[in-house]
Amino acid sequence: MNDKKLFLQGLTRPNDDQNDARRYDLLIGNGKILAFGPSGSFEAPADAVPEKTDGCLLLASLIDAHTHLREPGFEYKEDIRSGLAAAAHGGFGAVLAMANTRPVNDCAPVTRLMLDKATLHHPHGPFLHPVGALSIGLEGSELAPMGELAEAGVKAISNDGRPVRNNELFRRAMEYAATWGLIVIDHCEDPDLSNGVQMNEGPQSTRFGLKGQSTVGEALQVARDILLSEYLDLPVHLAHISCRQSVDLIRWAKSRGVKVTAETCPHYLLLDDSLLAAYDTRFKVSPPLRGKSDVQAMLEAVNDGTIDILVTDHAPHAAHEKEVPFDEAPNGFIGLETALPLTLDLVRQGLLRADRLEELWCRKPAEIFKLRHNSFKPGDPADFILVDPQSAWTVDTSSIHSKSLNSPWLGLELRGKVVGHWLGGYKIIG
Ligand code: DOR
Ligand code: ZN
Repeated sequence: MNDKKLFLQGLTRPNDDQNDARRYDLLIGNGKILAFGPSGSFEAPADAVPEKTDGCLLLASLIDAHTHLREPGFEYKEDIRSGLAAAAHGGFGAVLAMANTRPVNDCAPVTRLMLDKATLHHPHGPFLHPVGALSIGLEGSELAPMGELAEAGVKAISNDGRPVRNNELFRRAMEYAATWGLIVIDHCEDPDLSNGVQMNEGPQSTRFGLKGQSTVGEALQVARDILLSEYLDLPVHLAHISCRQSVDLIRWAKSRGVKVTAETCPHYLLLDDSLLAAYDTRFKVSPPLRGKSDVQAMLEAVNDGTIDILVTDHAPHAAHEKEVPFDEAPNGFIGLETALPLTLDLVRQGLLRADRLEELWCRKPAEIFKLRHNSFKPGDPADFILVDPQSAWTVDTSSIHSKSLNSPWLGLELRGKVVGHWLGGYKIIG
């Protein structure tokens, strides 16, 4: 925390109207928001220090509810130090880190190790919230000790990366998780319909001669989770939703009052399966990039609130792992540092409403996972970022803080750079 008062003037806010020239001022002190409003609407006290802002875009610090930081076990891909550095530069003040580490995060010592590393390397944040395994070793046969994991500090449990085949086990996981106040995050892919698949099933997979996964492979488990959620009257959160059938089911469930929430990633809003034409493993991800009509359905679902939040599914892999024949390559993209510029691009293209930005990347994930966040009300934590929305940069080794570069946007220019990042009034970037 920082007890100095800071005064930031002339900031812009997310807005759909290109001609809107409104500016805002922000006053912080003692790690909290003291005042926020249209420029000139309040006076800064004499002891407040002015901070250079250059008319930047002001946003609440973002929350990524789905990352893979790879520590313990796969530190050559990423570790907690590098992953949280990438988060800080990407505008994320908090991340939920999945359990598919080695060893798997299915017991308190692993959770504690992750938390200790985060505090050691990033004492002022970004803050790490480990996700516990749903089953021991992610094997899908025995429930993980949820009480122990909850007491050690996990916020949620998930078998992410290894979908749960056993419906009975999944039901029990939902029931036990609820007794500990933990949310179940489900990676929705039917393990049999996903066995050995390389991409989305459709005209493109026929053309490229790659084994495809139909959208039913995802929607079947979405349907299972919704039915269980309604029957048990318990919440479930659906990870990286990618297709029309799934969002149709989620929309139906929400209309019935089912306690289901759902996320998607920027890549499911921007990329489609035609990109696999060159058999470039950089486009291989699970669930796979879908067809154009699914991309359209995802955009509609994000704008109308059927999809509650955006996440990165930051999944670093080393170059030597991705530079192999297509069917041997691991799934996943890095995403922490590209997410915000890509989201700003969606807004610029008129594909995403500007007023959804903070809801999708901050307020709603905070609500679902019960995390602190900033709504710019007096007393809120001074967790915010300043973004130069026009600043262009190229995705490459010199710009990326993650240890891995497995991005579909590698070598391409993105627009939008985090130029300042404060958490609890402490400046971590800028
Ligand atoms: O593409 C993916 N990569 N999807 C997952 O669910 C897991 C992740 C990983 O851990 O690499
Ligand atoms: Zn994941």
